[in-house]
Amino acid sequence: MARIIDISRDENLALAEGRRLLVAGELVAIPTETVYGLAGDATDGAAIQKIYAAKNRPAFNPLICHMADLAMAERYADFSPLARELAEAFWPGPLTLVLPLKPDAGIAPAATAGLRTVAVRVPRGFAGRLIAEADRPLAAPSANRSGRLSPTTAQHVEADLGDRLELIIDAGPSIVGVESTILKVEDDTITLLRPGGIPAEAVERLTGFDIVRPAMSGAIEAPGMMASHYAPDAAVRLNATHVEPGEALILFGAPEVGNAEGAHVTLQLSETGDTAEAASRLYDVMKQADQSGATSIAVTPIPHDGIGEAINDRLARAAAPRPEDNA
Ligand code: TXA
Ligand code: MG
Repeated sequence: MARIIDISRDENLALAEGRRLLVAGELVAIPTETVYGLAGDATDGAAIQKIYAAKNRPAFNPLICHMADLAMAERYADFSPLARELAEAFWPGPLTLVLPLKPDAGIAPAATAGLRTVAVRVPRGFAGRLIAEADRPLAAPSANRSGRLSPTTAQHVEADLGDRLELIIDAGPSIVGVESTILKVEDDTITLLRPGGIPAEAVERLTGFDIVRPAMSGAIEAPGMMASHYAPDAAVRLNATHVEPGEALILFGAPEVGNAEGAHVTLQLSETGDTAEAASRLYDVMKQADQSGATSIAVTPIPHDGIGEAINDRLARAAAPRPEDNA
């Protein structure tokens, strides 16, 4: 099983051990403000292969390359004035920018799945310090097996991947709790590839641009084509106003729920109806509902504004038909 180092006990040890393993081409699970990441040296093709193997991730799905700061990111990606404006406003923070790759700068082709673009982000807190210490960009997808719920604690990582890596660095529960917002920035178009920790409205307010939302982001328009993602074992039922016998119930605030007393277990995302709190608790609450043994999870409605868009996106994916349902 993986060793766990708690940064509140010895941050310098976490930095030194993290750096040692990453430079040697090994994988380290790292805390970020969004979710825990499975990190490897983005310039080392063999380390990138280990990431895909540990997650069972298809090799055509590219990784986010995490940078210490904007200056490091500019070594690997071309920043237009618009991209730089976004980076300066939201980094460090839960925003990923998909930008033209500088092809000879050293990012391993496997990290971008051979694309001519690269996804870059500067995380807040410990992860940024570790990248600076290791002095190289870190490719890091969420530290879960492909298709499973993302981890927001070191214990989640240990349960899902603990037998597949040497070190997990523990910084307590992730603050934001859902993954970064991914924007593709072209000349004068900003496309929302994934809603996340930075609300789309905040990007529109800053830039004055209307964000383009492709059909697949946000609500699922073509469920048959949507590979299920972020999925618990149990079925998920959204916008629930009543509980079916034996269902797990996930509440947001204090809505009227028919047959609430019939729930197998009742969990709360945010008593006060705060979407930021709900995002930070989302994956842990989903895992608890799943582990309760209920075969279905009913979730009450969650507002769509701000970070609510990201919460609803993840819930819609969790509720989407699974590949095995079609088998
Ligand atoms: O908050 C986060 O973003 C977390 C933490 C660990 O940083 N990471 C994360 O990584 O969510 P992952 O691998 O689970 O999701 C990365 C997403 C994938 O959907 C991938 O397809 C997309 O980013 N992506 C990466 N590079 C891309 C590119 N060049 N063009 C378009 N999409 C890209
Ligand atoms: Mg993921």
